[in-house]
Amino acid sequence: MKVLGIETSCDETGIAIYDTEQGLLADQLYSQVAVHAEYGGVVPELASRDHIRKTTPLIKKALAEAGLKLSELNGIAYTSGPGLIGALMVGASIGRSLAWGLKIPAVAVHHMEGHLLAPMLEEKPPQLPFIALLVSGGHTMLVDVKAIGDYTIMGESLDDAVGEAFDKTAKMLGLGYPGGPALAAIAEQGEQGVYDFPRPMVRHQGLDFSYSGLKTFALTTWNKSNKTEQDKANIAYAFQEAVVDTLFIKCRRALQQINETRLVIAGGVSANKRLREKLEELDAEIFFPRMEFCTDNGAMIAYAGAIRLQAKESESKRILVQPRWSLEELRSVV
Ligand code: KG4
Ligand code: ZN
Repeated sequence: MKVLGIETSCDETGIAIYDTEQGLLADQLYSQVAVHAEYGGVVPELASRDHIRKTTPLIKKALAEAGLKLSELNGIAYTSGPGLIGALMVGASIGRSLAWGLKIPAVAVHHMEGHLLAPMLEEKPPQLPFIALLVSGGHTMLVDVKAIGDYTIMGESLDDAVGEAFDKTAKMLGLGYPGGPALAAIAEQGEQGVYDFPRPMVRHQGLDFSYSGLKTFALTTWNKSNKTEQDKANIAYAFQEAVVDTLFIKCRRALQQINETRLVIAGGVSANKRLREKLEELDAEIFFPRMEFCTDNGAMIAYAGAIRLQAKESESKRILVQPRWSLEELRSVV
């Protein structure tokens, strides 16, 4: 079964084709970074308009890459949520209409399920069950994954998502947008032991997170410093260490709590080198997506959709967008 995946939930247009027999046949990505950079963050209306410009040409490119004709597709998967409503509408309208025109099924994919299943595209995919740490610009959560679609949220952020905290702290330090990778890059020049940031929520029972305090702590520290480039690097370093440590502690706790030995880490922040290195210290089998599938992409949507279409799941002939949608509402795939 050849499935076209369409991802337009935020600031990346991702189009891919996944074949349940041959694997990934095409993967195309267009990033809107240049469009939003001058505003210091994602401007939703500009995002929607850019998806309109890029989605159809990228579908054509993906078909050419796979050497396929439109008529050879067997299904379409589009990101239905969570995300920016206008941006989601673009992918959902194009995806649903294309499926209608081609008389093939379409399935509405949950963006975070896409992230969660991204490591399944690797050579050594995780076996189920496992725990997933999902860390992106909009979400931070630990999920007990019993089966595909059978998700229980064990803990989540009570305020900012990890990626959001990275982005806001980076912006405050004048590092521009997107901030996460920029902050991680200058943290490499930071010195250990200059600043010690708090580890929020680690003394609390349970598996929830909180990151808005760390961002404020970074701001106060920056304002009290001499504001040199080295101060900036030292703050980035201390901030990143605090984030990575809290994630490490909560992952360890989650694994112990349900006696699990497999951990999947996915979502944009799973591209963070320091986080990847630190989580390898856990007494568990660790699975990450390859770097380009940590951040938003079409491949993860094509894959998640293919699994659901194969299980005979598909949507009625309506354009379905769900800007707010919990992973726990998904149906289990048997
Ligand atoms: O999954 P994603 O591409 O989009 C959402 O679903 O939100 O995640 C984007 C987030 C941004 O906040 C970005 O700054 C962060 O992931 N990110 C990073 C790194 N690469 C991306 N954060 C820290 N270190 C990185 N290397
Ligand atoms: Zn994402």
